[in-house]
Amino acid sequence: MTFLGKAKRAIRRGIDAALNRTPMCRHDVLTSLSIASGLGDSVWVLHGLARSLRPEVCVEIGSARGKSTCFVGFALSENGSGKLYAIDPHCQTDWNDIDAVDSFDILHRNLAACGVSDFVEVLRDRSDVVAASWTRKIDILFIDGDHSYEGVKRDWELFVPFVKPYGLVIFHDTIWDLRPNETGDRPEIGVPRFVDDLRKAGYPVLTMEKDFGVSIVQPTIGGQPLSR
Ligand SMILES: C[S@@+](CC[C@H](N)C(=O)[O-])C[C@H]1O[C@@H](n2cnc3c(N)ncnc32)[C@H](O)[C@@H]1O
Repeated sequence: MTFLGKAKRAIRRGIDAALNRTPMCRHDVLTSLSIASGLGDSVWVLHGLARSLRPEVCVEIGSARGKSTCFVGFALSENGSGKLYAIDPHCQTDWNDIDAVDSFDILHRNLAACGVSDFVEVLRDRSDVVAASWTRKIDILFIDGDHSYEGVKRDWELFVPFVKPYGLVIFHDTIWDLRPNETGDRPEIGVPRFVDDLRKAGYPVLTMEKDFGVSIVQPTIGGQPLSR
């Protein structure tokens, strides 16, 4: 982090302290954001993981208007360290949220409103393009981009080699198949089948039956050994 970045953060902390703001009060910034997203309240899981793991590097595939981006970015700002790389082409794909095609400016506005722009690097590109030159180890990988079976499998294969042994991969929309009528049918959605394939292959998968399904995966078959 640059000297200027550190100085800005120290000033912000000082102002918060002077105004006697606690972190809980600062969360009002997040709860007052009205960004439509299927993630719903499950977005707090991302925030909590980013708070507790204190990650150096988070990668998000699929930012749209930035609900998940703001919550993870905010957690990093509370940690005072780390960077979220937010990948999205912000153009027409098969997987845009309603009214969120060119979401680039909206995303930047939301990040600024949360005061987290310093903790988020917005990468306006497809995930496969970013992956071609990717080198950093990853603590948290959030996959919410191309929801086709081939797309989600590609994202897993391209980025998982960089995830640290105790790092986590989080997928959104993993129980769509179990709740097809809530949002209308998207038969081509492949996230549930792909994550189920990971589960059958022996990867530890923990799924929350909420907000169309959020699954947390440890990217080691059989789980990361806890003893020698
Ligand atoms: C469901 S939205 C993401 C929602 C967001 N995570 C949130 O919390 O509101 C899916 C996004 O994935 C993006 N997307 C589609 N294909 C992609 C790809 N190959 N690489 C990166 N992003 C992609 C779309 O542009 C779209 O904005």
